[in-house]
Amino acid sequence: MTPVRTARLTLRAWTTDADDVAFVFDMYSRMDVLRYLGRTPRVLEDPAEASAMIGRWEALRDGVLGVRAITTHDGERLGCLLLKRIPWSTDAAAPGTPEDIEIGWHLHPDAWGHGYAAEAAAAVLPLAWAAGVPRIVAVTNPANAASQSVCRRIGMPALGPTDRYYDSTCELFEFVAPAGSGAS
Ligand SMILES: CC(C)(COP(=O)(O)OP(=O)(O)OC[C@H]1O[C@@H](n2cnc3c(N)ncnc32)[C@H](O)[C@@H]1OP(=O)(O)O)[C@@H](O)C(=O)NCCC(=O)NCCS
Repeated sequence: MTPVRTARLTLRAWTTDADDVAFVFDMYSRMDVLRYLGRTPRVLEDPAEASAMIGRWEALRDGVLGVRAITTHDGERLGCLLLKRIPWSTDAAAPGTPEDIEIGWHLHPDAWGHGYAAEAAAAVLPLAWAAGVPRIVAVTNPANAASQSVCRRIGMPALGPTDRYYDSTCELFEFVAPAGSGAS
């Protein structure tokens, strides 16, 4: 996974080095971070769970898709930028229907309030379009105003509530590949 640089940020692959594991453990052991993620959020209780999580992220990587570490240019870890297949709700899709691609952002609370999620997301979208991804969705818990603001800030149109993903009702945002990109 080639690192991506923005004005303030570097996006890179996570590793199972001790400092990466410690950051991931710290971030996902906070209910502040998890409270809008999934139907029944559960904080990590053991660093080994963070290491296993990074291992699962490594398996997702294909050069475009993956879970990237968001860091400053000095290497300070800030959070995760996710670009991955999104699970359908149990009865949402016909068998064999390809999964949509989801973009998402999880920042450590110490990094909130600086616009980092929008900056990181905007940098990864062009990679997806160049790779031929036809559309990208973002879903948020209906109460997650901060995440919905990130969607709006990067210009993602809001399509209203949906039950299509994660067996839950989410607010759906969607980008369609721009004309002239690899997908069109
Ligand atoms: C979602 C998240 C990445 C936003 O990070 P952030 O650093 O607060 O984002 P920003 O500073 O760019 O703020 C984004 C916008 O949300 C607004 N905002 C922040 N917290 C808010 C809150 N609690 N209620 C309402 N709006 C809020 C900001 O004012 C800003 O609005 P603007 O774009 O109109 O200026 C961060 O809250 C987070 O990591 N949360 C935990 C994980 C999570 O829920 N991820 C999203 C899953 S869908």
